[in-house]
Amino acid sequence: MSLEAIKFDRSEPRHVSVKVLDQLLLPYTTKYIPIYTIDDGYSVIKTMQVRGAPAIAIVGTLSVLTEVQLLQSESYTKSQWFYDLTNWESVRERLLQRIDYLLSSRPTAVNLYNSIKDIRILVGESQRLQALDEKLFAYTCQLIDQDLLNNMKMGDNGASFLLNDLQEEGFEGDFAVLTICNTGSLATSGYGTALGVIRSLWKDSMVKSKSSGSKKAKISNSNSKLTHVFPLETRPYNQGSRLTAYELVHDQIPATLITDSSIAYKIKTSPIPVKAAFVGADRIVRNGDTANKIGTFQLAVICKQFGIKFFVVAPKTTIDGVTETGDGIIVEQRKPNEFRLVTGTAIDPETELPIRSKNTNELQSAKVGIAPPDIDVWNPSFDVTPHEFIDGIITEEGVFTKGSDQTFKLDSLF
Ligand code: MRU
Repeated sequence: MSLEAIKFDRSEPRHVSVKVLDQLLLPYTTKYIPIYTIDDGYSVIKTMQVRGAPAIAIVGTLSVLTEVQLLQSESYTKSQWFYDLTNWESVRERLLQRIDYLLSSRPTAVNLYNSIKDIRILVGESQRLQALDEKLFAYTCQLIDQDLLNNMKMGDNGASFLLNDLQEEGFEGDFAVLTICNTGSLATSGYGTALGVIRSLWKDSMVKSKSSGSKKAKISNSNSKLTHVFPLETRPYNQGSRLTAYELVHDQIPATLITDSSIAYKIKTSPIPVKAAFVGADRIVRNGDTANKIGTFQLAVICKQFGIKFFVVAPKTTIDGVTETGDGIIVEQRKPNEFRLVTGTAIDPETELPIRSKNTNELQSAKVGIAPPDIDVWNPSFDVTPHEFIDGIITEEGVFTKGSDQTFKLDSLF
């Protein structure tokens, strides 16, 4: 099983190699798609072969780097994309147009927008392709490495915050958490955001379960430990069942997949008390309102009803320091057929095993209709959770909670 969404070989800085895991084929098939151009980056982002706000930004940035490198190589043919390589000003202008096109691939997640803003500055500062190539290479490496470091920090920040909070509340014992969509290694450069916190909580549980001689440090002295995770299936694209479930199985973290419609009943009936929900973010605006996968708002409302803490976990690259409230967020609408049809690996009805092609032995993917083809559907990819429903925003710089006036003070993140 591969948990690497992006393979980036940087051993030859002037000739990098980039491959993206086709997440539409998971969890049964592991196949990587090579990226050579901005068009390749646009395509894998638009079709959701790669997804998750940080991963989208990384792949978008890498696609600009590969295109800049291709422009300098012998395999570049003049007719491609109308670059006039004899004139730097025209190259610069054309590149900026291509970058704007890339940004149109998915509008809600702010991470790609933030990276493109940085890339535009690098393009503006450079006087030659080679100089731009060097700057872009350094920028991309830093983006990827920093994302991983941030995720590890957020994981530990979130885990210790929850454990200390439970201790203050006087809770001791085993507990479960909820999560939606996928926010793990496949959505980032590794470890994950919300799933990173769950990974850190699980590490702490493992240390606590071992004999007292364990050398690894506990995250907190509290006597509570995570013993179960409930990932939501996350309709209609099923990032929870395809990706989060895959990551939890990979890490051997005890988990039970639940449908999006069973949250309240699960909380009410679970023998292991559910103590928190951790979700990622595609955009957090100045007042803390958060765009994330459709269903997140509903999860937050249910958590509030049951007095369960609801946390958003995201790096600073997911902060939109310009938009004041959630009303200013443009929510991406997806194609109706992503809702009316389910795409997956074909399963033999008798054996219940995946079907392989007789000639190639490859697994067969299948689309199955689950609604009348002409029914009108509403298919927003995201929703916006108002800050009133959010108990904490976990970042690499610490955990932000609301003051007595019930507002977040996020200014230091902008
Ligand atoms: O449509 P997707 O799969 O790109 O949506 C992903 C999410 O909503 C994630 O929760 C979010 O991007 C955070 S990923 C660390």
